[in-house]
Amino acid sequence: MFCLCTGDRKVFIYLQTGGTSNEWEHMSSPQSFFSSTIGKKVVMAVTGFLLIGFVVAHLVGNLQVFLGAEVFNAYAAFLKSIPGPLWIARIGLIVIFVLHLYNAFSLRKIISAARPVDYNKQATVQASAASRYMLHTGVVILLFVIVHLAHFTLGYLQPEHFSKTDALGQHDVYYMLVQGFLNPVYAGFYIFCIVMLGIHLSHGISSMFQTLGFCRPNVKNKLELAAKAIAAGITLGYISIPLAVIANVVTLS
Ligand code: HEM
Repeated sequence: MFCLCTGDRKVFIYLQTGGTSNEWEHMSSPQSFFSSTIGKKVVMAVTGFLLIGFVVAHLVGNLQVFLGAEVFNAYAAFLKSIPGPLWIARIGLIVIFVLHLYNAFSLRKIISAARPVDYNKQATVQASAASRYMLHTGVVILLFVIVHLAHFTLGYLQPEHFSKTDALGQHDVYYMLVQGFLNPVYAGFYIFCIVMLGIHLSHGISSMFQTLGFCRPNVKNKLELAAKAIAAGITLGYISIPLAVIANVVTLS
C-alpha cells in the first residue's frame, strides 16, 4: 500500500541497510506498525498534510488584512464567536503538531543508530539542502510558533498593542498586526521564520507525496515541482503581509 522509496534518502538507506525488510513481516498489529520506520513516515506524512491544511487556511484568513481593518477584525471576531469548534481545532492542532515532532525525532534516532560510521558524508552528497536541514528548519518553526502565540494570541510581547478595541468594541487584531510589523525586529523575525517554513515545506511536501504512494517515476519530477510551487506560494503569501506593512500598503489610517 505504501511506497517504499520514501522521500527521505536517509530512511531509504536505512531501509536498504538496517535489516528492516523484516519489518513488513512483523507489522501485524497497529502498535508494531506505528513503531516501525514506515509507520512513522506515514504518521509524518499524514500529520504534515493536516498541518499544511492549517497553514493554508491561516494564510487565507490573514490575507484578509489587505481588505482593511473592518473585514479583518470581523473575521477574527467570528472565529472567537465559535469557541466550541475553535477549541476542537486548537486541541487537534496541538495533537497533530506533537505527533509530527515526536515522529521526526524518533525517526532521526532510528536513522542515527543504524548508520555506518561514514554514512553522514555519503548520504548527504546527493540530498538537497532542504532535506538535510529538515530538523533544523523544523525547530525554527517550533520556536516561531511559540513566539508567535506569545505575540498575537496571548499578547505577552508588545502588550501595549494587544488590548485595543475597534469602533465595534471588537479586539483590534488589525491594529496589533500592523503595529507588530512596523517594528523592524518583529518584521525581520517573521520574514526569516517564514522563509525557514518555506524551505521545510519544499522538501516536506514532496516527501509526503512519496510516502503516501505517489512516487511513480513518470510523475516524480512534476510532483517535486508542484511541492516547490506550493511551498513558494505559501511563503510569498505570508511574507507579503509584513512587507505590505513596511511598504505602507497596509496602514493604520
Ligand atoms: C505573516 C505571517 C503571520 C501572521 C500575520 C499571522 C497572524 C496571526 C494572528 C493575528 C493570530 C491571532 C488571531 C487572533 O487571536 O485573533 C495568529 C494566531 C496563530 N497563528 Fe499566525 N500568523 C502568521 C503566520 C503563522 C504561521 C506561519 C503559523 C504556523 C506555522 C501560524 C500559526 C498560528 C497559530 C497556531 C495561531 C493560534 C491560533 C488560535 O488562536 O487558535 N501563524 N496568527
